[in-house]
Amino acid sequence: MADNKPVLEIEDLSVAYVTGSGLVHAVNDVNLKVYPNEIVGLIGESGSGKSTMAYTIMRLLKGDAVVTKGRVKILGQDVYQLSKKELRQFRWSKMAMVFQSAMSALNPVMTVETQILDALLSHRKDMTKEQARARARELMELVRIDPKHLKSYPHELSGGMRQRVVIAIAIALNPALVIMDEPTTALDVVVQRSILDEIRKIQQEVGFAILFVSHDFSLVAELASRVAIMYAGRIIEVTPSDLLHLQEKHHPYTEGLLKAIPELTAEDVTIQGIGGYPPDLQDLPSGCAFHPRCPYATDICRRVRPEKLAVGDKLIECHLFSEKELVSHV
Ligand SMILES: Nc1ncnc2c1ncn2[C@@H]1O[C@H](COP(=O)(O)OP(=O)(O)OP(=O)(O)O)[C@@H](O)[C@H]1O
Ligand SMILES: [Mg+2]
Repeated sequence: MADNKPVLEIEDLSVAYVTGSGLVHAVNDVNLKVYPNEIVGLIGESGSGKSTMAYTIMRLLKGDAVVTKGRVKILGQDVYQLSKKELRQFRWSKMAMVFQSAMSALNPVMTVETQILDALLSHRKDMTKEQARARARELMELVRIDPKHLKSYPHELSGGMRQRVVIAIAIALNPALVIMDEPTTALDVVVQRSILDEIRKIQQEVGFAILFVSHDFSLVAELASRVAIMYAGRIIEVTPSDLLHLQEKHHPYTEGLLKAIPELTAEDVTIQGIGGYPPDLQDLPSGCAFHPRCPYATDICRRVRPEKLAVGDKLIECHLFSEKELVSHV
């Protein structure tokens, strides 16, 4: 992985919402790289900043949000240095997103075909309408929907099929990175499972990187090769998914999440939630943001924010770890 150029590089990124009562620090000092053909999971509790980070990468933040620090690069290009015109071309052709509210991402008064053709033809001036139609059929087959549904309107499709259409549109222009923000949360478990299997197959067939955002730990652990764990806008741990179990030493927050998941929990460990509540993003705790909830917190955790330690594929932000310890846990 080391000599592979990353598709996505996030460097020291901080994002805040400007509100009448002050700044809401939604993303704080985030560093993350995603490599070609890799699936990276991004997990965290509701309100931890996952969607804000996804929107920041796509440069789709609304007017009340500001990037206060850092950089986002896609294929080496700083996304925030692009002109508006360049950004329009870049978005969807290099980076695409499946939104959290995917069910409403489709236009209800346009057929599936019209929507796919629009996406293709607005970016590919060299493409004829016939070529675009052929590509639309190909995309439908790729997401396992009968191409006869190209003539359908969104309301004529099931929730799972609509979701597949949204994925088809996201990958229509062969982007290098697809961000999927809770793409299956609104679907029932069976449909969710089959869509995830398909996402994995398509990803292997076509070859693009995915940043997969979810609050479902076990689902992400299964799909992704690496998982980034977000707490109060910070990525406090990045770990290969196959090390996501309680026999490995983890950030106390990750450990707490693992202990709350029956299927990831060893038989002799009692299932328990993490006590307390996520912090107020307008008034973050001193030191480590997790210290008020951490069972291992000591004085230094209350006073000093831990450095980020990164070794190989692993990153951790916790006073309990030294670099030596991290190496021994890779
Ligand atoms: N427009 C806004 N103005 C002020 N605060 C906002 C705004 N949008 C989001 N926030 C706050 O920013 C924080 C991060 O929100 P975000 O939507 O990124 O979280 P999330 O991890 O995606 O949550 P979920 O799992 O519920 O989707 C939350 O505390 C949220 O209340
Ligand atoms: Mg979200």
